[in-house]
Amino acid sequence: MTFTEKAYAKINLDLYIAGVRPDGFHELSSVMATVSLADILTMTVTASEHPTVILSCDAGLPTDDRNLAYRAARLFLERSGIVAALSLTLEKHIPYAAGLAGGSSDAAAVLRLCYRAFPGALSRADLFRLAAEIGSDVAFCLHGGVARCTGRGEQLVSVAIPENKPLYAVLVKGNESVSTPDAFRRADALYDGFSDGTALPPHDADGFDAALRNGDVETVAKLSYNTFEDAIFPICPEAKRFRERLAASGAIFARMSGSGPTVYGIFDDKSAADEAKRSLGDLAILTAIQGAPLFKQ
Ligand code: C5P
Repeated sequence: MTFTEKAYAKINLDLYIAGVRPDGFHELSSVMATVSLADILTMTVTASEHPTVILSCDAGLPTDDRNLAYRAARLFLERSGIVAALSLTLEKHIPYAAGLAGGSSDAAAVLRLCYRAFPGALSRADLFRLAAEIGSDVAFCLHGGVARCTGRGEQLVSVAIPENKPLYAVLVKGNESVSTPDAFRRADALYDGFSDGTALPPHDADGFDAALRNGDVETVAKLSYNTFEDAIFPICPEAKRFRERLAASGAIFARMSGSGPTVYGIFDDKSAADEAKRSLGDLAILTAIQGAPLFKQ
C-alpha cells in the first residue's frame, strides 16, 4: 500500500519569547500559520520480519536519524509495536534551516501517514505526544491551520480565521542561514537571558488573536512582533533588506518567520501579492495561508 501526504511550511505571524525555562528551553507565545508551500512525503508499507525504515530524499539531506522524518517513522513503529517495512520518499520544496519548520513538517506528515496506514495502532493523543517528543514545532505541523502555540511551542489553541478573507504570504529566503539554537543564544544575549521582563516590549496576545479571528488585518499588523528580529537582523542584513522591500511592495505587514532568515509579507489581495513576488525576483515564493486544520487533537 502507498500513501501520500503534503508537509506544509509554517510562518510565525507573531512570536514572543517570554523567558528561559529550568529545562533550558524558552517559554514561547507564538501564532503559527500553515502556508501552501509544501514538501511531499510518500510511504509504501511492505511486510517485514523486523521494523524497518528506509528514507530517500531528492535534496541531499541526511536520510538517517538526523532527519526528523526518519525519526518520526522509527518512533511510530517503536511505540505502536507494528512490525513492517516503511519506505519513505521525501520530495523537498521548503527551504531548510529557514524558520519555516520544513523538517518538523516532514516529521508531522510521516505521523499522519502512519496514522492512515495503521488505523487504531496509536490514538490522536498518542500522536501529539510523539510529535512533542520529536521537536517543539512538530505538534503544530501535525495539527496545521492557524494556532497560538505556547510552552516550548507544543501547546496549541486553534485560531479560526475568516474563510471569506484569504490571506497571501510572499516568502523570501536569501543566502544567509541561521541555526535555531544559535538564534536562541543570540536572543538570550540581547535580552540578558530574559531575566528582566521589562526589557521586552509589551505583548497583547489576546488582542492579536481576536484581530486575526475578526479579519482585522490592520490591528494584526500593528500588534505582530518577532523577538528574534533584533537578534538576527544584525547578522542577516540581507534578510532585513528583503523585509524592507516586502514592506515597500505593498504588504500589509512584513516580518521574519521564526528564527529566520526567511522573511514574509502578508497581503489580502492576490494581484498585489503576485506583483510583489514579481518585483522581488526568483527568491520570492507566493503562498496562501491555510486556515483549515489538517489533523485535530
Ligand atoms: O525542539 P527543537 O528540537 O525544535 O528545538 C531546537 C533547539 O531550539 C533546542 O535545542 C533549543 O536550543 C531551542 N529551543 C528553545 N526553546 C524552544 C524551542 C527550541 O530554546 N521553545
